Amino acid sequence: MKKLQVIGWVALGALVIIQFIKPTPNQAVGPQANYIGTKHEVPANVKSILDKACMDCHSNNTRYPWYASIQPLAWWLADHVKDGKKQLNFDQYTQRSLRYQYHKMEETIEMVKEEEMPLPSYTWIHTDTRLTYEERVVITDWAQSVMKNMEAQYPMDSLVKKSK
Ligand code: HEC
Repeated sequence: MKKLQVIGWVALGALVIIQFIKPTPNQAVGPQANYIGTKHEVPANVKSILDKACMDCHSNNTRYPWYASIQPLAWWLADHVKDGKKQLNFDQYTQRSLRYQYHKMEETIEMVKEEEMPLPSYTWIHTDTRLTYEERVVITDWAQSVMKNMEAQYPMDSLVKKSK
């Protein structure tokens, strides 16, 4: 066999073998006890945007497209979900500190305003998750109102670190 042919078969073999090494899917069952909406108001129009454009990476439940089971794509997707959840998980929101809850709303405003979220590599494929200007305003206004409600409920130094 020619050298190139051998390399080709080895590569193909490797591709077949890695199909069996699957990342654990991010699919929790049932309602999540610490979902952000259990403590902060999440109106229906906000929820539908979050569900559509954010929850795949920032919750305990991802809707996987068919190609998500193909390696090495599945690893790449799993990595995004892992990173996304580490930074922000709307399903484990209320179990975190008040500071975290307050600060992540601030980050949400920033990320959505600057169009850094949802991730461009995601909206590129899921074109329906590209947010319109109006949808971005709905999210940033909502995050602002969550922050305002928290300010009304808790002393400021429990929400932000005291600056010296
Ligand atoms: C395809 C996966 C994906 C989607 C969809 C997605 N995110 Fe993210 N998000 C990430 C990843 C990965 C990170 C961490 C790395 C980074 O900051 O780029 C992140 C980081 C963030 C952060 C920063 C947290 C911090 O404290 O720095 C916020 C806020 C955020 N996302 C909000 C959102 C919102 C709101 C949406 C929906 C409009 C959204 N994301 C959609 C993957 C995603």
